[in-house]
Amino acid sequence: MNKKTLEDLQLSGKKVLVRVDFNVPLDKDRNITDDNRIRAALPTIRYLLDQNAKVILMSHLGRPSGTGFEEAYSMAPVAKRLGELLNMEIKLAKDVIGESAKALVEDIKEGEIVLLENVRFHKEEKKNDPEFAKALASFGEVYINDAFGTAHRAHASTEGVAHHLPSAAGYLLQKELEILGKALDNPDRPFVAILGGAKVSDKIGVIKNLIQKVDTLIIGGGMAYTFFKAKGYEVGKSLLEEDKVELASELIKEAEEKGVKLFLPVDTVVAKEFKADAEHKVVPSDQIPSGWMGLDIGPESRKQFGEAIVNARLVVWNGPMGVFEMPAFAKGTEAIADYMSQCNGTTIIGGGDSAAAVKQLGYADKMTHISTGGGASLEFLEGKVLPGVAALDEK
Ligand code: 3PG
Repeated sequence: MNKKTLEDLQLSGKKVLVRVDFNVPLDKDRNITDDNRIRAALPTIRYLLDQNAKVILMSHLGRPSGTGFEEAYSMAPVAKRLGELLNMEIKLAKDVIGESAKALVEDIKEGEIVLLENVRFHKEEKKNDPEFAKALASFGEVYINDAFGTAHRAHASTEGVAHHLPSAAGYLLQKELEILGKALDNPDRPFVAILGGAKVSDKIGVIKNLIQKVDTLIIGGGMAYTFFKAKGYEVGKSLLEEDKVELASELIKEAEEKGVKLFLPVDTVVAKEFKADAEHKVVPSDQIPSGWMGLDIGPESRKQFGEAIVNARLVVWNGPMGVFEMPAFAKGTEAIADYMSQCNGTTIIGGGDSAAAVKQLGYADKMTHISTGGGASLEFLEGKVLPGVAALDEK
């Protein structure tokens, strides 16, 4: 990586402003249901504490309206959890750049942590407003970005602030960029990518970029039906993006020209309705009956995909194979996780739904890497430059 990292900066005794991605899922009582993103930031935070830095953390949480403090989006549950994980007091500011934040930052001592309130309480955050970025930057002498999950957003706390302070990547950002970067630039082969999820339109960029790099491309999930249509199959009531059928044909052709093996599901679990207990059956993918909808890949597809996965040296997976939230349609997604756990090569899960599925199905500790970024890992796999990374100082 050509960006500065923690070891490139003198941090001892300094006020270090750190952008983390503490955008964690909360239940209706605002309990954190998955603290992985907080844990993932600990190596950087611990390093800074070891260096006797004064640590000022900032993050967004959810999508508040941007018109000031909203209890529902307060960082309070995060401050509590972080305090438990580090076994120390976390001083939570009542605001982002207001009197409370200023006072806490003014008083911060070496080895202490201040957490600012949700940066999205200000609409200026998402607008990457220069004055807001400057106000945030005034809190630190150095800026560290460790928020891989938000690195695809050009916001004040991820991008703007980097222009005002010496900057570097934290350990999490560095790790994500190194693992995903190696996969794209210097992959072990055979390299298999598995793409699923509902829509082709969400994955066009990824498919196009990965066709240039992989040996095998596996396509499942809701977007497979648009590819079926491109092959001339009828898809009944399955998800279909009519306006992407032609593109799907082009992608099939491009894979062929590049010598990439493209696997589509040969069989499909179809259901009468989109319901957990709907009547369902397995049919060959070119025989989806009218009035039925595909909700998962079938057993023969699972076997075919599994063989490619188990024999790969590198597997990257983004997007579920079916409606994994409903047990009757989770088998395809579960099979991918299971085959990946049997693969001796490097196994990488793009964030978002596939990361949630892997965790829910109990395979999380069997993967080489589960990305903490959903949108960010997708954009990275598309080959896009992430603004939060681009803004950091070069080595
Ligand atoms: C995420 O969860 O993908 C990141 O935290 C970014 O959140 P956002 O999609 O609301 O910008």
